[in-house]
Amino acid sequence: MSIIGSVFRVTTFGESHGLAVGCVLEGVPSGMEISEPDIQPYLDRRRPGQSSITTTRSESDSVQILSGVELGRTLGTPIAMIVYNEDMRKRDYEETSRIPRPGHADYTYQVKYGYRASSGGGRASARETVGRVCAGAFAQKYLSSHDIQVVAFVDSVMEISIPEDVREHLLVHPPSQTEVDELGRIFSTTDPTTFATTRCPDKATAARMVERICELQRKKDSCGGTVTGVISGLPAGLGEPVFDKFHAELGKAMLSIPAVKGFEVGSGFSGSERMTGSENNDCFIPSDSGRPELLSTSSNHAGGVLGGITNGQNVFFRVAFKPVSSIGVEQSTTTFDGQPTTLELQGRHDPCVLPRAVPIVEAMAAIVTMDFVLRQKVRN
Ligand SMILES: Cc1cc2nc3c(=O)[nH]c(=O)nc-3n(C[C@H](O)[C@H](O)[C@H](O)COP(=O)(O)O)c2cc1C
Repeated sequence: MSIIGSVFRVTTFGESHGLAVGCVLEGVPSGMEISEPDIQPYLDRRRPGQSSITTTRSESDSVQILSGVELGRTLGTPIAMIVYNEDMRKRDYEETSRIPRPGHADYTYQVKYGYRASSGGGRASARETVGRVCAGAFAQKYLSSHDIQVVAFVDSVMEISIPEDVREHLLVHPPSQTEVDELGRIFSTTDPTTFATTRCPDKATAARMVERICELQRKKDSCGGTVTGVISGLPAGLGEPVFDKFHAELGKAMLSIPAVKGFEVGSGFSGSERMTGSENNDCFIPSDSGRPELLSTSSNHAGGVLGGITNGQNVFFRVAFKPVSSIGVEQSTTTFDGQPTTLELQGRHDPCVLPRAVPIVEAMAAIVTMDFVLRQKVRN
């Protein structure tokens, strides 16, 4: 299915090399002030061709709202948004119409449907995420009116990671969205270009990441890494027992992003492997909220969720992206009909999807959070 959400429902549509991509939103409350200029900056952050380490596909990604908004306010009716594709080059994909790309979805789409989009991966292309980012812009706007912020950043590229102390700091004090948009102003980095290129907020780590990505790009190879997301300003009590736990829905949303292979919340895998119960537990302390029924915690290994319900601390999570499958290195593989062959991809591809994945992770986290806020309103 191409639908996510329970009250705030998002449908995305469109193929990579078709006419357009976009989304339809249902459940957006009426009267919300929003228009194209509020959405465009989010798309600009996802857009290809922003630096030498992303794909050179050139798209202006201009969004048009087709319905559900009038005179800059939502009507409460379905909202449709469209972004026309501009830079389609079907000839780049002539070879892959005969040979399924190793690591891509050509083979599985063919087996499932017996038919598939002729070029560029169709719905499996990251172009599909344009619709998610449009929806995410609505969700971010809605959440900001509830003082909830969603921010993500590149945490690691292959073995190069943000130092642990910087990471710990960011989990408690995530940069505000505005600061992230004003590239280079966060953490008083003196090198906005490196940050803009990698979306890693630690200058020294970002520089090493660029070097590593460029090295692999020269070898026509690719690499993966991780993105960390932080949701701050959340009230306690969001999330539904038992199957629609906050982190279960968040995990589903993240794992639906192309190239995502792993998800963890809070202390995650390392907590399970390296910590004891006494180290991992977050003991309660009185909160400074002024409401006696609310408690805080002295640490946040849970990542802000207990029993699938937010506890009022920041929700933080990490998402693992695999090395991009489309590479220029010669690979021994077979054609669709099983004939041995070699494949050396030309086309335009991201040597590392991490920088472009950040706004997609933020969009999906915002979509899930908005849905839970609306679900909770039904209860209160
Ligand atoms: C922002 C972004 C850009 C991507 N760009 C490419 C690309 O240029 N080439 C490629 O092979 N895959 C790219 N992908 C990943 C593929 O879409 C993905 O690997 C493919 O759909 C197969 O799905 P899977 O990796 O989740 O199994 C990108 C993913 C994201 C999130």
